[in-house]
Amino acid sequence: MFRFVLRRIGMVIPTFIGITILAFALIHLIPGDPIEVVIGERGVDPAMHAEAMKRLGLDLPLPVQYFHYVGHTLKGDLGMSIITNTSVMGEFMARFPATLELTICAMNAVVPETFAKDTLLVADKLARHYSVKHSMFQQGTVKALNGVSFSLERGKTLAVVGESGCGKSTLARQLTMIEAPTSGRLLIDGEDVANVSRAKVADLRQRVQMVFQNPFASLNPRKTVEQTLGEPLAINTKLSSTERAERIAHMIRTVGLRPEHAARYPHMFSGGQRQRVAIARAMILDPQILVADEPLSAMDVSIQAQILNLFMDLQQQFGTSYVFISHNLSVVEHIADDVMVMYFGGVAELGDKATIYARPRHPYTRALMSATPALFEEDQRIKIRLQGEMPSPLNSPSGCTFHQRCPYAIDKCRVEEPALRFVDGWHVSCHRAEEGGEIDA
Ligand SMILES: Nc1ncnc2c1ncn2[C@@H]1O[C@H](COP(=O)(O)OP(=O)(O)OP(=O)(O)O)[C@@H](O)[C@H]1O
Ligand code: SF4
Ligand SMILES: [Mg+2]
Repeated sequence: MFRFVLRRIGMVIPTFIGITILAFALIHLIPGDPIEVVIGERGVDPAMHAEAMKRLGLDLPLPVQYFHYVGHTLKGDLGMSIITNTSVMGEFMARFPATLELTICAMNAVVPETFAKDTLLVADKLARHYSVKHSMFQQGTVKALNGVSFSLERGKTLAVVGESGCGKSTLARQLTMIEAPTSGRLLIDGEDVANVSRAKVADLRQRVQMVFQNPFASLNPRKTVEQTLGEPLAINTKLSSTERAERIAHMIRTVGLRPEHAARYPHMFSGGQRQRVAIARAMILDPQILVADEPLSAMDVSIQAQILNLFMDLQQQFGTSYVFISHNLSVVEHIADDVMVMYFGGVAELGDKATIYARPRHPYTRALMSATPALFEEDQRIKIRLQGEMPSPLNSPSGCTFHQRCPYAIDKCRVEEPALRFVDGWHVSCHRAEEGGEIDA
C-alpha cells in the first residue's frame, strides 16, 4: 500500500509540475501584448491597461505569476481543455471513480476489474428483482439476482454453476440485454450498456449471442437451416447474397453438419444436431461473447461430450469468450477457465478453475462437488451432503442465505450477511472462508 501511494505521488507530482510549466510557457510564448491578445488590437487606455495587468497578476515577476497559476490550478480552476473543449475539472471528476477504485483495490490487494488485462465484460453488482403477486392482496419481490459481480476475459470461459432457481438464467438475460437490470452496471468492451445510444445497444446485442437449453424451442420450426442462418446476416451485415451463402456453408461445416443439412427443417434433426444449428446461428455474426444457458442438459451423455468439444473448438477458432451456465460442476470442469458458484441470486465463490476444484472454500461449493461422483473420488475430505431446499425466493433468510442448509453455520451466520471477500486469491462469501476445507461441523 505504502509503495503504491509513493509511486502514485512520484507519478503525479512531476506530471503536474511538467504540465503546469508547459502550459505557463505556452501562454507566455504567445507573441504580443497579453491584454491586446484578449481584447483585440483596438487600443486601450494606458490606465485601464495597467489596471487589467494588475488584476490578472501580469505585472508580477514571471516566477510569482507561475505560482499564482499553480495556486489557481490546485483550487480546481483549471480552465477548458483545448483537446476535448470540456472543463478540465469535469474531465478530472469523470476519471475520479476509476482512480478511487484503483486506490481501494490497492488497499485490499485486489486486482481492479476495470484494469484487469483483456477484460471484455464486467458485471458490477448486477441485480434483477421481479414484482410478483404474493397472495390475493399482497405483492412480493423475488430477488432473482442480487448484486452479482464478476469479469470475463477475452477468449476465456467463465462457468456459472448452481442449483435450479439460483438465478443463472436471470443472469444470462441481463448479460444478453434481453432484460435491463434493476440495479448495477454491465460493461461490454468498456461500454456501460445503460449509458450508450440505441444504435450502440443494437451493436452490443450483436456482439453478445445466446445458446439456449432447448434447441427445439429456440429454433423456428418453419425455417430451414439456411434461412435460420441467413436471416441475421441479411439484417445485420451488408454482405451480398453470394457472400452470405458462402458464410452459411462455412458455418454449417464448422459446426459439424453436412452441406445437404442446409435445406432441412429443425424437426428433421436429432437433439445434438439441432443444438449444432442453434450454435451455428449464434456464431454466424462472429460474436465476441457467447452466453450458453445449460446447452447440454437436454442431451444424452455421449452427445453432451461432442457438443462440449464443439464449443471448445469454436472458441479456439474464433477466440469467442463464453459464459457457460450449468448445474453440473463435472461438465464445466472441461471448458471453464474461471468458475462462479451461485446461490440464491448471489455469488458463493468465484475464482480460477484449478484453485476452486482443488480446494473449494465455500461449504455450498463443497456440497455441489460432493454430489458429483467423478470429482469426489480423490478427496473424501470435502464431502458434504446438501440437505433441504433453497429458501423461497419471496422470503430471503437473514444473515447468510445458505445458513439453513450449512453444516458449519455459527451464530454469526444467522444474523450477518457475509460479504464477497478476496481470500487466498479468489472470492468467497462465507464467514468461515479462511478455515477452508478444515472447518468442522
Ligand atoms: N420473470 C420472473 N418473474 C418472477 N420470478 C422470476 C422470473 N424469472 C425468474 N424468476 C425467479 O427467479 C429465481 C431464479 O430463476 P432462474 O430461472 O434465473 O434460475 P436458474 O438458476 O436459471 O434455474 P434453472 O437451473 O432451473 O434454470 C427463481 O426463483 C425464479 O422463480
Ligand atoms: S457464512 Fe456460515 S452459513 Fe454461510 S456458508 Fe459460511 S459457514 Fe455456512
Ligand atoms: Mg435456468
